[in-house]
Amino acid sequence: MTLLEISVELVYMVAVALFVIGLKRMTSPATARSGNQLAALAMLVGIVVTLFDKNILNFELIIAGVVVGGLIGGIAAKKVEMTSMPEMVALFNGVGGASSFLVGLGEYYRTGGVDLNVDVLVTIGLSILIGGITFTGSIMAFGKLKGLITGNPVTFPLQTPLNGVLLLGSFAAIGYGLFETGDPMLYLIILGISLVLGVLVVLPIGGADMPVVISLLNSYSGVAASMAGFVINNKLLIVSGALVGSAGLILTVIMCKAMNRSLTNVLFGAFGGDKGAASGGGHGSIDKTIREVSAEDLAVMTAYAQRVVIVPGYGLAVAQAQHAVREVADILEGKGVDVRYGIHPVAGRMPGHMNVLLAEANVPYNLLYDMEDINPDFEKTDVVIIVGANDVVNPDARENPASPIYGMPILNVDKAKATIVLKRSMNPGFAGIDNVLFYKPNNYMFFGDAKKSLQNLVSALKEV
Ligand code: TAP
Repeated sequence: MTLLEISVELVYMVAVALFVIGLKRMTSPATARSGNQLAALAMLVGIVVTLFDKNILNFELIIAGVVVGGLIGGIAAKKVEMTSMPEMVALFNGVGGASSFLVGLGEYYRTGGVDLNVDVLVTIGLSILIGGITFTGSIMAFGKLKGLITGNPVTFPLQTPLNGVLLLGSFAAIGYGLFETGDPMLYLIILGISLVLGVLVVLPIGGADMPVVISLLNSYSGVAASMAGFVINNKLLIVSGALVGSAGLILTVIMCKAMNRSLTNVLFGAFGGDKGAASGGGHGSIDKTIREVSAEDLAVMTAYAQRVVIVPGYGLAVAQAQHAVREVADILEGKGVDVRYGIHPVAGRMPGHMNVLLAEANVPYNLLYDMEDINPDFEKTDVVIIVGANDVVNPDARENPASPIYGMPILNVDKAKATIVLKRSMNPGFAGIDNVLFYKPNNYMFFGDAKKSLQNLVSALKEV
C-alpha cells in the first residue's frame, strides 16, 4: 500500500466515525441538528477524499456531480413542505437505488465481466437486484403519495407467488453468472426483473402503510449501497450503506409496532383496500351528538385548569400551527398551568414529524412526552387540547375489535377530565375511520383551521 492509499483509508475511517456519531446524535431532538451536520460533513469528507483515490478517471465529472447534486438537494430541502417529506425521502431512496445498480453494472461492463472474484460477482448481482427494486419501488411509492397513481392497494390473483418466482429467478441468474462469466446480457436481465419486482412489491401496499414502506425502501437503498461498496471495494460506502440499511430497518420495525402491524402484514396485507372495514365498524348505534365550543369557552376551561396536555397531529403540520400552539402554552404557563405535550410515535406522516415542528417553534424538549410516558398521566389531566390529531387518539383502537386500527397503541386522552379537538370538520383522519372520541360527553369540538383557532384562543386567553 502506498502512503496515499493508507491516507485515503484513514480518512474513510474518520468519515465512518463521523457518520456513526452523527447518527447517535440524531437520537435526541436536542442534538439532532448537529448530528445531521456531522453526517453531512462525513459525506463531504468521503467525496473529497475519493477525489484522491487512484481509481478516479475524471475529476471534472465528480466536481460537476457534487455541484449539481448539492444544488438540487439544497433547493429541494429548502422548498419541500413538511407534509411532503415522505415523497422527498421516496425520491432520494430511488436515486440511491439507481446509483447502486449503476455502480454494479458499470463495474461489470468496465471489466468485461471476466476475471472477477466470486464475491465481486455476487455483490454486483445483489447491488443490481436490490438497487433496481429500490428504484422502481420508490418511484411507485412517490407516485402513490403524490396521488399520481392510486394510493389504494392494487392486488391481483397469484401476486405473491409471482413475486416469489421473480425473486428466485433473479437469485438463480446471479448464481448462473458465477459460472458463465462474461455474459453481456445476464445482468441486464437481472436489472429488468428487479425493476418489475420493485413495481410489483409496492403495488399491493397503500393507505397508512405507505410511510412504513418508504422506511423499508430506505433500508433497501442502504443495503444496495453497501453491496456497491463491496463491488468497488470502498469501505466508506460499505459502512455508510450498512448504517442506512440497519437504521431504516429499525425505524420500519418501530413504525410497525406503533401501528400494531407486522411487517408481513404491511407487505402483503393490503391495508385500506377493504373499504367496508374502513368505515370504522361496530358502532352504528352510538349517540353521535357533538358539543361545540368557542375560543372564549376554551380559554376559560384551560386558564383555570391545573394540568393541560397538548396532543399535536397531522393537522398541526397542515395548518403550520406550531408557533401558535407554543404561544398558547406560554400564556397558560404564565397563568400557573402545568402544560405538557403528548407525542404519538406515528402522529403526522413521518417519524418525528411532531418533534421537528415543535422544535421549530422552540418548544422545550423536556415538555415533550412519549406516548408510554404520558399515558399514565391522562387520568390526572384536566384538559387535553388535541390539535389536528385524529387516529392517534381514537379509543376504538383500544376498545373496538371491529375497527381496522384495533390494537394500535394510542394516546389515552379519553381518560382525561375533558378533551377539546381542534379540526376543521368531522372528516376522518388518515385511516379513513370515524372517531368515537368526538361523541364522548366530556369532549368538545372547536372547528376551524388549527392555526386560526389557536390564534383566537390566544386572544381569548388574554382576556381571562
Ligand atoms: P390523522 O388521523 O391523519 O388526522 C389528522 C386530522 O387533522 C384530520 O382529521 C383533519 O381533520 C385534521 N386537519 C387537517 N388539516 C387541518 C387544519 N388545517 N387545521 C385543523 N385540523 C386539520 O392524524 P394523526 O392523528 O396525526 O394520525 C396519523 C395517521 O397517519 C395515523 O393513522 C398513522 O397510522 C398514519 N401514519 C403515520 C405515519 C408516521 S410515521 N407518522 C406513518 C404511517 C402512517 P379535518 O379535515 O376535519 O380538519
